[in-house]
Amino acid sequence: MNKDRKLLIAGNWKMNKTASEGAALVQGLYLELAGTKQLEIDIVVCPPFTALSEVSKVLVDPKIRLGAQNMSEHNYGAYTGEIAAGMLREFGVRYVILGHSERRQYFHETDEIISRKAIAAHAAAIKPIVCVGELLAEREGGLTEQVVGKQLRGSLAGLSKEQMAETTIAYEPVWAIGTGKTATAQQAQDTHAFIRRLLVELFDDTVARRVRIQYGGSVKPANAKELMSLPDVDGALVGGASLEVRNFSDIVKNSI
Ligand code: 13P
Repeated sequence: MNKDRKLLIAGNWKMNKTASEGAALVQGLYLELAGTKQLEIDIVVCPPFTALSEVSKVLVDPKIRLGAQNMSEHNYGAYTGEIAAGMLREFGVRYVILGHSERRQYFHETDEIISRKAIAAHAAAIKPIVCVGELLAEREGGLTEQVVGKQLRGSLAGLSKEQMAETTIAYEPVWAIGTGKTATAQQAQDTHAFIRRLLVELFDDTVARRVRIQYGGSVKPANAKELMSLPDVDGALVGGASLEVRNFSDIVKNSI
């Protein structure tokens, strides 16, 4: 693997795993990944909030870092059911997934809300993973760049160059999530290259070269190698295949 950017492979467990199941999964991952060096790849697990505490206790080796799946844009206050960045930081959370398509679709998150969350995450020293991606009808209508471009302009608004350089973008075509359909290598590379060109326009060349752009959508051990070898693909955001030790560790191993 010969890229300037270190790969970032993150498991988005979504609403799966109790605290004890999550801890067991991480212990299994350590055993399977014992042979890989920490320097080769950044690995992150993103359990549900209720499993963060137990999982953080078993994350004894920085080879695997902790992420959350969402957070509030507010720091504290009367927001029943919400969780603030500072509360996540206390458990050692280093990354947070923001604006996942499921949150955009089911919880009506807008680009504006996502940008406020990203700013709040940076203020708490948590690195955002900002998700973007088009629907099937939008791809078929030739609107991918228009849709992804609008999402990025809105969701990254207000970030400084320094903050952007520490932000990850996850390109997840909605039609590829949980469907078993993966974007072709050409589709992934084309959209990732478009995203990087847009980062040059919105920030600058140095920032665009530093930002990691993950691909997400039915990533499996069998397709990880091809996807991760693409010039503008810098990691994966893995859903279903991150719920099993063997699948997730094989994705990591096949990507190195
Ligand atoms: P799958 O890997 O299950 O397709 O999910 C992708 C995803 O949504 C990760 O955030």
